[in-house]
Amino acid sequence: MTAPAARRLFFALWPAADCRAELAARARDARAGLPGRAIPDENLHLTLAFLGKVPVEKIPEVEAVADAIAGDRFDLVLDRRGWIRRAEILMLAPAGSPPALNALAKAVADGLQPVGFNIDFKRFRPHVTIARRCDRGAAGEVPPVHWSVDGFALVASELDHHGARYRVVRDWPLNPA
Ligand code: 2AM
Repeated sequence: MTAPAARRLFFALWPAADCRAELAARARDARAGLPGRAIPDENLHLTLAFLGKVPVEKIPEVEAVADAIAGDRFDLVLDRRGWIRRAEILMLAPAGSPPALNALAKAVADGLQPVGFNIDFKRFRPHVTIARRCDRGAAGEVPPVHWSVDGFALVASELDHHGARYRVVRDWPLNPA
């Protein structure tokens, strides 16, 4: 097999195993009785910035953007179920976005600009997608999932016969607060 010339990439918060298990359980409850295609547990994440297809020779520049980011750790509480009717997406989301999360997403967007990626931070709405093609949804409070965020990752989206599979390319730590 030949190596790909480009990879579909995004920066994300990528949960550790214990948090992933908690997210997966909450996602299961939040999807109960609703239509749609569940996101596999191993794919659950929160996107910071979506880059799209990136030529492989450009990936070191993208990694250098993350190398230059000095963000702080933060706690994220996902306590809302949201539904975007138009996009048919069901999600878990925080009631309010922690300032450190906004600062991180903005630092990523700002850093990517000179490298040639136009990421509109103003459109950043933190969420974890839990189902797609959900044409009938519900929104409201859910029991909180507590996520101690101590790093962020560059993730590649690869298509196989099961659909999208996400692979962490590299991750970066955040500073203890
Ligand atoms: P979503 O969950 O809100 O659909 C990998 O595909 C990740 O990148 C997903 O979390 C997805 O967000 C996001 N994503 C995919 N295409 C995107 C686009 N065109 N703009 C912004 N985010 C996108």
